[in-house]
Amino acid sequence: MKILCFGMVVCDYLIAGIPSDIMSRNGAPIQSLRLSGGGDALNVAVGLTRLGQEAIICGRIAADPTGAYLTEYCKDNGVSPDYLIQDDEFPSATSFALIDPSGERHFLFENRIYANYSAEMVNERMIESADGVYFGSLLTFPKLDGGGLAEIFRRVKSAGKLTAMDAAIHGQKFEPGRMKSLRAVLEATDIFFPSIAEMEIYTGSRNPYKIAESVRDSGLRVFGIKLGEAGCYVTDFSDEKIIPAVPVQNVVDTTGAGDSFFAGFLSGWANGYTPFECAKIGNIVASYAIQKLGSTIGIPSFDRVVADLRASA
Ligand SMILES: Nc1ncnc2c1ncn2[C@@H]1O[C@H](COP(=O)(O)OP(=O)(O)OP(=O)(O)O)[C@@H](O)[C@H]1O
Ligand SMILES: [Mg+2]
Repeated sequence: MKILCFGMVVCDYLIAGIPSDIMSRNGAPIQSLRLSGGGDALNVAVGLTRLGQEAIICGRIAADPTGAYLTEYCKDNGVSPDYLIQDDEFPSATSFALIDPSGERHFLFENRIYANYSAEMVNERMIESADGVYFGSLLTFPKLDGGGLAEIFRRVKSAGKLTAMDAAIHGQKFEPGRMKSLRAVLEATDIFFPSIAEMEIYTGSRNPYKIAESVRDSGLRVFGIKLGEAGCYVTDFSDEKIIPAVPVQNVVDTTGAGDSFFAGFLSGWANGYTPFECAKIGNIVASYAIQKLGSTIGIPSFDRVVADLRASA
């Protein structure tokens, strides 16, 4: 299956060993520096190619060295960068994860480019070239949350292709009425699999069963909620299950756990597995990813995942 991954494309700097009092110092050496492509769309695209599927990325980058790095990163990871769109106003999205001596992360973001994400970025040629569209950044781009995404997904659906969606919270809180804007998108969405924190800001609830009831008549084929170390909830609206996570002794880095889960889920879908098996596959892929530093480094081959799935049955 070929998936068009639309959304955040970010250059991540992981900087370890930042002294807690750095703002009152002139300078300090650090322990380590790691640079990687990131952002949900890029993470899922890389995850999909690692798992044997094809991925095209659509997002905004600038004509700056970061943009050049991100384009190379796509190519190095087997992701087509043909639909990366050049932004003339803002720099490429960049995130600095500053890790303090206790291991705690503090983020600095350059993400002004998000203001320019719009429905026009995804054209019919892109939709035709793929079997489906994944969008991971609900709650991130003002123009898309304000109706643009619903328009894109309607076009994808009328071309007979799959639509899959995740959300990415940015500190928002529960607001009654937010659900209303989501409804128009859900009508054109096949698979919606956000995390519990994201559904809480739409519904005010942390009860997966109650939350699922609130989206029952929305037109979704599959709805799920990622529950961190508790695994995930999934329903096809005739059956529903909580699927426990794969126990991991040595959790190294949970950044992008949700993205590797999603890449796993979609590769299961591409191989004809049921939604419940796909959710198990998502848990398995995420369990590998969190044992390595970096969002996608730990993702195994699909054969390995299937072997684990069989062993767990
Ligand atoms: N400590 C853990 N042990 C085992 N599996 C985990 C753990 N944390 C996360 N996972 C797996 O990763 C999946 C996704 O994690 P999570 O629910 O945190 O998603 P998310 O909030 O979308 O993550 P992200 O921070 O990437 O946005 C879970 O459904 C689970 O399968
Ligand atoms: Mg997430």
